[in-house]
Amino acid sequence: MSLEPSDAEQQARQLLAESLPRRWSHVVAVAGKARLIARELSEDGELLEATAWVHDVGYAPDLAITGFHPLDGARYLRDHGAPQRVVDLVAFHSSAWAEAEEFGVADELAEFDDEQTLLRDLLWYCDMTTGPDGTNLGFEDRMAEVRERYGPDHYVTRALDAGMDERRAAISRSRVWLTAVGLADQV
Ligand SMILES: [Fe+2]
Repeated sequence: MSLEPSDAEQQARQLLAESLPRRWSHVVAVAGKARLIARELSEDGELLEATAWVHDVGYAPDLAITGFHPLDGARYLRDHGAPQRVVDLVAFHSSAWAEAEEFGVADELAEFDDEQTLLRDLLWYCDMTTGPDGTNLGFEDRMAEVRERYGPDHYVTRALDAGMDERRAAISRSRVWLTAVGLADQV
């Protein structure tokens, strides 16, 4: 079973565009980067783009059950028949495991698997180089923006450092690959 990028876009639009327009702008920009990259990824390209569209659906007020968006999003997608890889990629996107520990839902996130592939790194790259309103941000600026937006006491900020090595590693592997395929200046 697969998830077409156009179907993923429609699903995300219904869940986010009206209720969370700023988050929707972020998602549109993340998916735009994923679409550019997808052309160079052969059979995994559509999977990357489709996952980029739905990666933040867990923020939608209608399905925020635990309040931890990677988990709420992954469970929603699983329950609505999304392919397992999409579900797993959403559950673990952008070092979600580190936040899950801080948020107290690590056991629940363990329902899913972190596939640790190039595709996963590239999804993290698209997300972690895009600001909350869709602007293009360097990775370090994006991390600083998260820290500032949530404040020092929020679990997201506390989790930033716990996941930082893994985030940096994913960004750096992505950059090597993007340079090799000539996309480094475009995304
Ligand atoms: Fe995101």
